[in-house]
Amino acid sequence: MKITVIGTGYVGLVSGVCLSEMGHDVTCIDTNPKVVSSLKKGNVTFYEPGIEDLILKNIKQQKLSFTTSYKKGTQNTKVFFICVGTPSLKNGSCDTSFINDVSQKLSRHLTDKSIVYVKSTVPIGTNELVSKIIKKNIKSNNKFYVASNPEFLKEGDAINDFMNPDRIIIGTEDDYVIEISKKIYKPLIIKKKNIIFLKTRSAELSKYASNAFLATKISFMNELSMLADEYKISINDVKHAMSFDTRIGKHFLNAGLGFGGSCFPKDLHSLEYVFKQKKINSPLISATIEVNNNQRKRFLQKAYALYEHKELKKKKLLVWGLTFKPNTDDVRESQSIKLIKNLSKKYNHLYLYDPKGIPNAKKDLKGLTNITYLNTQYEFISKCDALILCTEWNEFVNFDIEKVAKLKDRIILDGRNVLDEALLNKSGFRYISLAN
Ligand code: UGA
Repeated sequence: MKITVIGTGYVGLVSGVCLSEMGHDVTCIDTNPKVVSSLKKGNVTFYEPGIEDLILKNIKQQKLSFTTSYKKGTQNTKVFFICVGTPSLKNGSCDTSFINDVSQKLSRHLTDKSIVYVKSTVPIGTNELVSKIIKKNIKSNNKFYVASNPEFLKEGDAINDFMNPDRIIIGTEDDYVIEISKKIYKPLIIKKKNIIFLKTRSAELSKYASNAFLATKISFMNELSMLADEYKISINDVKHAMSFDTRIGKHFLNAGLGFGGSCFPKDLHSLEYVFKQKKINSPLISATIEVNNNQRKRFLQKAYALYEHKELKKKKLLVWGLTFKPNTDDVRESQSIKLIKNLSKKYNHLYLYDPKGIPNAKKDLKGLTNITYLNTQYEFISKCDALILCTEWNEFVNFDIEKVAKLKDRIILDGRNVLDEALLNKSGFRYISLAN
């Protein structure tokens, strides 16, 4: 099937590449000429494991192409996926201006029986708005359909999430959309029968519901970790015990510095905003946000308490992890970046390392004068007094204890509760976590 994807950010690019891998003939439109010319060479502006190889493979097989032109990109196509960004506005609401803009541009190129799927995470009612915009701008009386198809992929494991989805959600009120959706996703639904058809608004809310629920699970564990910390109980033990209950499951129960990224914080604020708009009290959503912010502050207090106030200005910290989670180069809403901005005010110097996040962190931390980016996780370790772990990359969890023993004060502050406390204590380290 011929498919056009608009927007080549995380959701758009992964969707475009995976749809071509599934056998479709895909064109991706992005209005940024630099991005398009890089993608044509298989170069992606962000890090996502496996994506570049898949792009090159599908370009070679002529199943995937990139263009800046709506005219070229929409030729002979009847299936469109809108995948542009929906960032937060200052008041927490979701900015759908890119969606509106794309809908307007696209409407001029739609032929009879076109389907426009909205994959971006959008507030309730956005699909109806897209429909209205298209109706207003479409050239003839061509029949068209707008359907919601939220995406549930995670950065760092995006290809796998797209190709092996737990569920494919389609929000539509039309049988024709149901029929075409089944054809598009046929390779992914044969075995699992995991396609779910809902009303459009239900599909829109289901995306927010999933993200908010997962974020709440994390905040619940983080809140509990405060109590566990007081009683010297390992929160990981508690998690282990809970995870055997199949009603709870084992995922998203890791207590730590808190959640970040471009989705959870944005979607929670957007949800909080619509609750307020409808004058409905939403203590749970607000508490999830509050617990998340408190968690970072609690950790910061632990980082300040490592030394006497007077000593702090003399001490040098090694910080491992800048991204909002492992296996990505994304530092948006990263707890680590927020911490570093505070820590740099109190500590003498910070030495920062991340396997992929340094280029993006440099943009966010511009202006800080007492930081140095390292080439390896152990570079300059003997100059540092203590180590702070902010992101649980594999190489940090499985570190070389002999090299880390070169830290002057042998102190490790673990922001993700992932290190082996007993081993570290036995090896002469002072180990502090959020409740390990
Ligand atoms: C999230 C959802 O997991 C995806 O299903 C969704 O499609 C995506 O948002 C989106 O809306 O586009 P993502 O933001 O890539 O995906 O990352 P997650 O793996 O969900 O992690 C989010 C944050 O939660 C990270 O900062 C991570 O460190 C934190 N986290 C996660 C915890 O603190 N504890 C956990 O147990 C799990």
